Amino acid sequence: MRFKTAIAAGLASMLALAGCTGGGAAPTAAPAPTTGAPAASEAPATEGGAGGDVGVFTWWAEGSEKAGLAELEKQFKEKYPNDTFVNLAVAGGAGSNAKAKLAADLENNNPPDSFQGHAGAELFDYISANQLEPVNDVIEGLGAASVFPQNLLDLITVDGNIYSVPSNVHRSNVVWANPAVLEQGGVGNEAPADIDAWLADMQKLKDAGVETPLAVGTAPWTQLHLFESVLLAELGTDDYNGLFTDGDWNSPKVASAVDKYAKLLDFANTGGADDWPQATDMVIDGKAAYNVMGDWAVAQFTEKGKTDGTDYIYYPTPGTDGTFLFLADSFTLPVGAKNPEGAKDWLNLVGSAEGQKAFNITKGSIPARTDVPADDFPAYQKTAMESFSNDKIASSIAHGAATQMAWSADMTTALSKFVSDRDQASFVSALAAAAGTYR
Ligand code: GAL
Repeated sequence: MRFKTAIAAGLASMLALAGCTGGGAAPTAAPAPTTGAPAASEAPATEGGAGGDVGVFTWWAEGSEKAGLAELEKQFKEKYPNDTFVNLAVAGGAGSNAKAKLAADLENNNPPDSFQGHAGAELFDYISANQLEPVNDVIEGLGAASVFPQNLLDLITVDGNIYSVPSNVHRSNVVWANPAVLEQGGVGNEAPADIDAWLADMQKLKDAGVETPLAVGTAPWTQLHLFESVLLAELGTDDYNGLFTDGDWNSPKVASAVDKYAKLLDFANTGGADDWPQATDMVIDGKAAYNVMGDWAVAQFTEKGKTDGTDYIYYPTPGTDGTFLFLADSFTLPVGAKNPEGAKDWLNLVGSAEGQKAFNITKGSIPARTDVPADDFPAYQKTAMESFSNDKIASSIAHGAATQMAWSADMTTALSKFVSDRDQASFVSALAAAAGTYR
């Protein structure tokens, strides 16, 4: 299957996830919260593991992300005592530094034994470059479509071969807010109806002396992360998803999203927060009212001892209620991995119900598997499971679900230029040009 055909097939799955054909929820994609013991289905593996070093590459190097990875590492060591886990994490949110290092390692035939890749367009990049081995046997052993949603499997499948093991599902369109700061401006805890109402609340906060209503990182990906939520709010789910197939980037709705985005930036800090942890900390520490961040942020509130509902609240980015802006991490077996059997031990752990439970509780995400009981998860993740089961699904740009890496890189470059020059017309034409190049 050619590269663009693979992308199109993946996007078709995402549109199916979005219920575009039926216009409703995504029943087959739902990781239905269940009760009872996790199923213990796993690929047969050497008892105790294949042995040798198993180098695992991620960008989960700090804070709550590191803690999530540590849960997997702990179980890996218990289940596969013959193997030696080698943590190859490279710091930088959303893989901002890691992906360049990984690309160089892959190019130099020095791959890790397994690396983190987003389900969807990003994974197709690696597949089309012949950098991944199929892992059909691992997925089969884990229970395949009886434990993973078929539509999620479609996002990691090309020509009938499955190329990664999904570990989790994250939500991108979440506002994290500090109620004490909101109170200073007389703003309530309920979600504003749309971006305009949200901007009005930010003005109230500003008028009351809150210096930074909205925290945004200076890392370009955090700005793209905010922008995808605003695009979704202005376009609605179907038109947003259509942008990656045949939708019009020159439409008035895209122009309106760009305009609203510029207005939001007027309420944001211009420095002082590099990556997502610092931007989220501004909300945690009461230095800002809001941060739009993926739900890995909840793990940071938890790690800092904050209480859900009292110290922090959350809701879908205004104007996006009813849509789950989706991304999923998954783990691969690279071509040329030095310890492929050890890598499969890792993949079996990542795909197991026990591994997904421990990892996702700590990471803020929800299991990719459908048979992990919801009962033990914190309140936030229960809401995410509910939303993923019942709402429409849209695919994240900033986290590799909707667009291949070169396309999101072009968008990021255009966005960074826009953040400094605020030239709306040239930003829209750069977005349209990128779509013309890559879809
Ligand atoms: C995403 C990744 C998440 C989280 C986030 C921030 O791309 O899928 O698991 O790590 O970046 O670093």
